[in-house]
Amino acid sequence: MSFDRSIKIAPSILSADFANFGQEIQAIEAEGCDWVHVDVMDGHFVPNLTFGPPLVKAIRPHIKTVMDVHLMISPVDQYLEAYAEAGADVITSHLEAGPHVHRTMQATRALGVKAGLALNPATRAEEAEYLLDMVDLICVMTVNPGFGGQKFIHSQIDKVKKLRAMIGDRPIHIEIDGGMTPETAPLMTAAGADVLVAGSAVFKGGSVQDPAPYGENIRAIRAAATAAQ
Ligand code: DX5
Ligand code: ZN
Repeated sequence: MSFDRSIKIAPSILSADFANFGQEIQAIEAEGCDWVHVDVMDGHFVPNLTFGPPLVKAIRPHIKTVMDVHLMISPVDQYLEAYAEAGADVITSHLEAGPHVHRTMQATRALGVKAGLALNPATRAEEAEYLLDMVDLICVMTVNPGFGGQKFIHSQIDKVKKLRAMIGDRPIHIEIDGGMTPETAPLMTAAGADVLVAGSAVFKGGSVQDPAPYGENIRAIRAAATAAQ
């Protein structure tokens, strides 16, 4: 994975057909996505339950781009190795998931995986200050984690601007997760984001039988986001 700040669209398979992950992933990649975002939830840190390491490992061979694993689990450290072994390229853990997020970032990089730090909507940008030299990505949650299809939280625009200034020349991606559409994505790329997670806005209107809408949705988000960057 080389670093650049070009716009990357990362569909969340939380909005895919759960009985057809292989075909859904092939469809979104054929339709032009850049990364594939995998939302792992534990029914404890967030009120929803999704994918364990065996399922993530099973979908890995279908992903030709980047597997971006978002862990919404607490505690997290004891599961990092299993998700790394499942083939994650990026593992993002939440700052709010435990008292030792510094150790979590160290442990992630030690596994040879890019380290991502996710911030819930109520968490201040400044909380990331002493972690900047040990992360490859900061994920700004623009919804409360747990579910797809929620409404974008506008107050996070200011957080992205602050993070962008704090990051300076460091090779750190700013990823936005939640409520991304052709209307909201440009607000975030104008503020400094480069990776846009989108679940419902990518998968709406399409299916594995008719994947063309996935491509139209990806291109609409990318065009609006790129024009604003
Ligand atoms: C929320 C997840 C998101 C979610 C995005 O907890 O982390 O990745 O699936 O879904 P949309 O794009 O529908 O808001
Ligand atoms: Zn996510």
